[in-house]
Amino acid sequence: MKKIKKRKFSLKKTLKLLVPLFIIIIILVNARNIVTFWQSKITGYEFETIRTFYELDIYDDVKKHTHSETLEHIITTEYYNPKYLDSYLDIDYYDRDNYFIRINRLLDNGYNTDEINEIYRDLNDESIEILTNYDYLEDICNILNLAYFDEDKLKRYLEYIKDKDLGYEDLVTYVNANLDNKYYTNVVNVENANDIDVLVNKYHKLANDYVPNDLEAISSKYNLGYNNKLRKEARVAFEKMCDAALKDGITIYSGSAYRSYDYQLGLYNRYVANNGFDEAETFSARAGYSEHQTGLATDIMNAQMDYISKNDKEYDWLINNSYKSGFILRYPDGKDKITGYMYEEWHFRYLGVDLATKVYESGLTYDEYVARKK
Ligand code: DAL
Ligand code: ZN
Repeated sequence: MKKIKKRKFSLKKTLKLLVPLFIIIIILVNARNIVTFWQSKITGYEFETIRTFYELDIYDDVKKHTHSETLEHIITTEYYNPKYLDSYLDIDYYDRDNYFIRINRLLDNGYNTDEINEIYRDLNDESIEILTNYDYLEDICNILNLAYFDEDKLKRYLEYIKDKDLGYEDLVTYVNANLDNKYYTNVVNVENANDIDVLVNKYHKLANDYVPNDLEAISSKYNLGYNNKLRKEARVAFEKMCDAALKDGITIYSGSAYRSYDYQLGLYNRYVANNGFDEAETFSARAGYSEHQTGLATDIMNAQMDYISKNDKEYDWLINNSYKSGFILRYPDGKDKITGYMYEEWHFRYLGVDLATKVYESGLTYDEYVARKK
């Protein structure tokens, strides 16, 4: 009888077979998780986030891009909008109020990712909330980068640009200059009336009782009018300018320089009576709002003792030379909406040589120049 050889059970051998088998089974069962784990290590996203990417079938798109904290956070919220996936990948993450709601609204309004990143770098949450309530603002990045952009005026910029075709520099300048408000509204009381660079216009009012304390009479050689005073520095500069003009064969005179509040009041009222309110407003300041009250402005006359007009050689000379003596043409042609006054070829304002040169070279009115100062 053939003896059946009994195989001897070997635990060692069995384990050698079973353990790898067991490991293989475990690996197979968990393959998905293991892959996800490595994908999480490679991409930087959380394990659960990678699973969500798979559920949404976007992993292949996401993995091509460097890790996005914004996507990491938004993907698990109700705010995730699949159509903005590419944008989320490029938008910097901030832990800020209503962040997801607001970036979605900015995207809805047409802002691109660079613009949104700039908006979040530069603006506070309150401003961003305002911005989301308006249509897309072209040039937003340029606007935010202007040295004279004023975040407190953001709503005013957004209101003012509506239905207007305006470059971004002008937009910010005009609102800074208060031009979004009607003349003689939102008025600031001038506190630096004695400064040579003081701004006086339809939004900047001098105190009724302001009188410069260093008024001096202009030499009769260079004065024709009754209002013959300027502040000392301006008086000296004006006479020097007249001398310089004479050397070039040009004769100029001061026709009307310093005017008190009361004098301006009478003058304005006479103009209103004679010319009507609307017309008077285009060439005469209301009392308290006239540069003449600063003692730094004068209406200049030509050799024929008439107020300068644009066809005069005196006008040409002044346009090309007055800044060298510290004077600028204050109400230039075509700038009436900005200055609030018609072209006044005769009205010159003393600013000092340095500032007058800068304003002259800027090509801006003094109102705009000040509005662009930080
Ligand atoms: N004519 C200028 C604007 C004034 O009245 O001050
Ligand atoms: Zn004047």
